[in-house]
Amino acid sequence: MSDLPKLEISRRGVLAGTAVTAVLTGNPALGAHPTPTQGEAAPPMPVRFTVNGQDQRLSLDPRTTLLDALREHLHLTGTKKGCDHGQCGACTVLANGRRINACLSLAVMHEGDEITTIEGLGTPEKLHPIQAAFVKYDGYQCGYCTPGQICSAVAVLDEIARGVPSHVQADLMAAPRPTNLELRERMSGNICRCGAYSNIAEALAEVVGPAAAGAKA
Ligand code: FES
Ligand code: FES
Repeated sequence: MSDLPKLEISRRGVLAGTAVTAVLTGNPALGAHPTPTQGEAAPPMPVRFTVNGQDQRLSLDPRTTLLDALREHLHLTGTKKGCDHGQCGACTVLANGRRINACLSLAVMHEGDEITTIEGLGTPEKLHPIQAAFVKYDGYQCGYCTPGQICSAVAVLDEIARGVPSHVQADLMAAPRPTNLELRERMSGNICRCGAYSNIAEALAEVVGPAAAGAKA
């Protein structure tokens, strides 16, 4: 309790410092857009990106995460919100082909980016090979983590193909191989509360080829 006055003084100090910086630097942006406090509306900002190949233009509160932009503004609810803190991987999408946690990324940071969500990977008639493998090997139970798992797996195979090293490679200079250990390490940021990990591993082994997945790391 005794710390509360100190915190208040500190917050005021920060706001005052921001105002002084705006005056001293003559930066009109700093003066024109004071930092909004919690519950206060912020001036909307425009952002333009493509989502699953479609041009999208939005005007968003700059604090809107990419996850909320996708789910709440574009109604692409395939991408799931689990922890909303970057810890579960349920919100994984691809930004310019690289996997990211959409809950940790502000939408306005993605101006000009190409975003791919689970809706953009395949269709019910023509599943992506990883989607088909998940179905074949029961790589899910409730399915809540599955869109994130599949987006992550797509990026993992691309990372291995591009030679991006991981923490479990014995020789960091050697090209990584899609072994079971390698795939499990790279997928470790995607949590499955149903515990479908072994089925997910089998699905990925199907895609990379059982021989490659079964090889020693
Ligand atoms: Fe983004 Fe959990 S919802 S990591
Ligand atoms: Fe239920 Fe993964 S299938 S959380």
